[in-house]
Amino acid sequence: MKEQSPSTTALVTARMRSIHTFADPKPLLDDTWGEKFSPASDLASFGYGGKSVSTNESMTEESIDHLLRNSPAYANVILRSWYSEAALRTAISEGVGQYVLIGAGFDSYACRRAAEAKDLKIFEIDHPSTQALKKQRLIECGVPSDERLHFISADLGQESLESALSRSAFSPEEPAFLSWLGVTMYLSREANMATLESVARYFASGSQLVFSYVDQAIYESVPSGVAEDIAILKQRVKSVGEPFVSGFYPDTLETELRAIGLELEEDIDDLQILERCDPSNTNGLRSSTISRIASVRVKG
Ligand SMILES: C[S@@+](CC[C@H](N)C(=O)[O-])C[C@H]1O[C@@H](n2cnc3c(N)ncnc32)[C@H](O)[C@@H]1O
Repeated sequence: MKEQSPSTTALVTARMRSIHTFADPKPLLDDTWGEKFSPASDLASFGYGGKSVSTNESMTEESIDHLLRNSPAYANVILRSWYSEAALRTAISEGVGQYVLIGAGFDSYACRRAAEAKDLKIFEIDHPSTQALKKQRLIECGVPSDERLHFISADLGQESLESALSRSAFSPEEPAFLSWLGVTMYLSREANMATLESVARYFASGSQLVFSYVDQAIYESVPSGVAEDIAILKQRVKSVGEPFVSGFYPDTLETELRAIGLELEEDIDDLQILERCDPSNTNGLRSSTISRIASVRVKG
């Protein structure tokens, strides 16, 4: 991402979640915050959507929302949040008291789930440029500061996860639930492996990490059915300065994780998540096997 600018893709994904909540027939999420955190004017000024091809004028809010609703990334943004928050609920019911969001962006869990999170310490880690805008937006929205919510500003390309968390009230002795959604594809393989190694080394045994990734195959030979979608997606993220750079191979993920002390409990694609949460696909989500989510446990 561009060093001095907040992540445009984080603004985009937040707005997608609120479009889904407001406009889809049977929403899987109840998240209206994207509309407040990520006004369409922001997306236009950060370069998303650009000019209308027909009129060469800046796009309207309606046309930006139409573009986002039809983006090849839309289904994944909804499904990965649905999956992760379902896993988080289970972890809370089993007594986990710490939730770490790596690359939190404009995630609104802390604003939406006060009752569910009443005993939860939440740690949002993000790049300084993105987190500064998130904090500004919370103030603008009149959200009072909350002692359970901790912000940790860190460039994970430069600083390790454990170093970032050690600057906070996070307790590595107690189990935690971690989400890492929509981030790995923007970081190098080395940076991603360093973060996974930090998780294995620093977190209490039994801690759970849910992360999304793209099949490394998209950088090689893309299946013809999704080739156009992948090309559009790559071009759009590149145009806002956040190119896709890495993925994992589903076939070797389990072995790679085991070698660093992590146990892969589940690795599924968007089609399988959809089958779980809305088998008749009431919302017409365009999911694929390219976007995947892994659920991983820190070994004892
Ligand atoms: C596509 S957004 C995903 C945000 C959120 N997890 C979601 O699903 O809506 C990618 C996030 O990764 C963060 N990010 C990218 N590079 C980073 C880095 N080097 N260090 C810390 N965060 C980074 C961005 O600031 C942004 O919040």
